[in-house]
Amino acid sequence: MLDYSSYDEFREEIRAKADEIVAPHAAAIDAEDHIPDGVMKAVAQEGWFGATAPEAYGGLAWDTVRYSIMVEEVSRASGSVGVMLAVQGSLIVYPLQKYGTPEQVEHYMPGFASGEVLGSFALTEPGAGSDAGNTKTTAVLDGEEWVINGQKCFITNTKRDWPGICFATVRTDPDPSAGVRGVSSLVVPAETPGFNYGRKENKMGLHGSDTSEIFFEDCRVPKDSVLGELNEGFKLFMVALDAGRISIGAMAVGLGQAALDLAIKHAETRHQFGKPLGVQQAIQWKIAEMATKVRAARFLVYSAAARKDAGLPYTTEAAMAKYYAAEVGRLVASDAVQIHGGLGYDKSYPLERIYRDVKLDEIGEGTSEIQKIVIGRNLINLKRKT
Ligand code: CAA
Repeated sequence: MLDYSSYDEFREEIRAKADEIVAPHAAAIDAEDHIPDGVMKAVAQEGWFGATAPEAYGGLAWDTVRYSIMVEEVSRASGSVGVMLAVQGSLIVYPLQKYGTPEQVEHYMPGFASGEVLGSFALTEPGAGSDAGNTKTTAVLDGEEWVINGQKCFITNTKRDWPGICFATVRTDPDPSAGVRGVSSLVVPAETPGFNYGRKENKMGLHGSDTSEIFFEDCRVPKDSVLGELNEGFKLFMVALDAGRISIGAMAVGLGQAALDLAIKHAETRHQFGKPLGVQQAIQWKIAEMATKVRAARFLVYSAAARKDAGLPYTTEAAMAKYYAAEVGRLVASDAVQIHGGLGYDKSYPLERIYRDVKLDEIGEGTSEIQKIVIGRNLINLKRKT
């Protein structure tokens, strides 16, 4: 059995670094809807964009447990920076490593690993959200090029002042009866003519993490831009999302821990009726429940990560980790606001931001309802599909 305490020292190092280079900027990132270049560069300097990328391409080659701890600790400092690293590691570096041709890996991995290029994962469309296979964006082969037309929405890591490359699902088989088996994954640099960012979404939280529409208008990419097999792009994206759901779980644990830490400190230092709040049994119980839930969520996340590292199936466990951790994150953030009273509701105090940020974890990379469908289907079939 994995002894997670063996990662304690690693966690301390990451936490100290995240507290130094990310946390001091968290409030401004939220207020200004922007991650400044200085933070991007400091994060890149740590190698966190390429945490799981091979060393040969400038990555740190961490296992998924270490990577999850990093996403957790960075999210504890700032959800916006945490989600950016979650997408880069799980939805970009991981599928590129798993499915990319040697030429694609050689060409794209160094930029992703160094953080010089941000990767976005363009699956969602106006009519393809939870029903992710209902892709309407098309790619038609014209000689040696794919011509892409269509629209994506709610796409993270679409930071306009940073070089970007998008992994997009496109329908390559025009036969509607092909369903999800007619969808491919294409690699599209954001600078390609015909690739245009649309509206930047005006989100409740995670303000520094850019989320945008993308429009493809006769956007041409070379024929060899297919990632993985032709018409197998839906499955590739599902496999990437399995990994992504571990990191979104890690993000929720980090945000939940941030809220818990603040609640404990408040219980120790705030005096009412002549004594610290934490003397009250009502507060002790609340904090005990919050801490137990965060710990349970953390172990669910690490357990799914360890299964991935061991080469075991982990679709179900990743969905459980995300579903549970996201719910715990929201509940713990809400309880922490309650313990703080008016202060928790004040925008100048970090809890209100944490509460808004963690809500995304119940929605992005598959809603909680989708996670329960994934878990239920895999259990009730009595055979593991993945
Ligand atoms: N691994 C490998 N293959 C998988 C798989 C997995 N985890 N999940 C499904 N598949 C395969 C199936 O085996 C099946 O293949 P075969 O036909 O060969 O057997 C094929 O994919 C189709 O599977 P389903 O029939 O289960 O597909 P479905 O249409 O019923 O959809 C779903 C299943 C679970 C609901 C899926 O659509 C889903 O996960 N939806 C949520 C999408 C999502 O998470 N969206 C978030 C996008 S990312 C984001 O938030 C934005 C961002 O910027 C990061």
